[in-house]
Amino acid sequence: MAFPATRMRRLRKTAVLRDMVRETELTPAHLVQPMFVQLGEGRTPVEPMPGVERMSISNAVEEAGEVHELGVPAVLLFGLPADKDEQASGAYDDEGVVQLAVRALKDAHPGLVVITDVCLCAYTSHGHCGVVREDGTIDNDLSLELLAKTALSHAAAGADAVAPSDMMDGRVAALRTQLDAEGFADVPIVAYSAKFASAFYGPFRDAADSAPAFGDRRSYQMDPANADEAVREALLDVEEGADVVMVKPALPYLDVIRRVKDATRVPVAAYNVSGEYAMVKAAASLRYVDERAVVLEALTGIRRAGADIVITYHARDVAEWLSR
Ligand code: PBG
Repeated sequence: MAFPATRMRRLRKTAVLRDMVRETELTPAHLVQPMFVQLGEGRTPVEPMPGVERMSISNAVEEAGEVHELGVPAVLLFGLPADKDEQASGAYDDEGVVQLAVRALKDAHPGLVVITDVCLCAYTSHGHCGVVREDGTIDNDLSLELLAKTALSHAAAGADAVAPSDMMDGRVAALRTQLDAEGFADVPIVAYSAKFASAFYGPFRDAADSAPAFGDRRSYQMDPANADEAVREALLDVEEGADVVMVKPALPYLDVIRRVKDATRVPVAAYNVSGEYAMVKAAASLRYVDERAVVLEALTGIRRAGADIVITYHARDVAEWLSR
């Protein structure tokens, strides 16, 4: 039945009617706040990400408490280690920055879900996500051992979930096997399954001091042109034991989020990354866009595309806006 029998505007007449037929909800319960923790005292602003800071562990504990209080259930931790080396030893040091932060956070806020990013790039002297061979290529299988050790040390510190972001083949199985063997069978894996080699990570690499010293990440992160491959990556991760699969970045990859959701039917996370955040902040500071309106619209779009969980630097602001 077409016009005039059908008039789509009938259900758009009032806010009450619009609310009744809204298909997608955006609430703080779906959000994850990423946080950067550093050793020592104080906070350091991240220049290309206004409002984001690297924090000391005690500041992170305070900040996470406030974010949790606002209804955001989870944080995702990234660490800035004291030292970097070829073997990324800071990543799996039981007294490393992330391990210390996890213990402090869980101690102060037992109900907060603490997820840790599992990767080597912030801990290696060369900034790559795996172990580099003499010829400059990445040793996939050797990297798996270090990644599994890293995840295990996070779990032992009390992490509620581990999130491998390195894009090595077989890492989900490697982590699952190691965690199960050491008594952490109930720690979920949130796999960065379809992680694209994206220019939108630029501001993050400033924040985490993790830019590769040579080359780029295209031998492990995905080609932005590929969506069938993204679905394969997600299906493989599910087969290897991933509890949640992730698509990253979010906004240029909404089609991938939908396809991964339809193909896997497991919970899907989308990472609204640093460059997406930086663009909104820059445009909003020039008053070219209304920050609150564009953020709520963008995150609703990510949810509508099929994301159950949205990891975003806007989480705290969104929770504040929605609670008012
Ligand atoms: C580590 C990692 C990166 C991000 C999350 N984990 C950077 C990268 O792969 O270079 C990016 C997050 C963001 O841009 O907000 N491998």
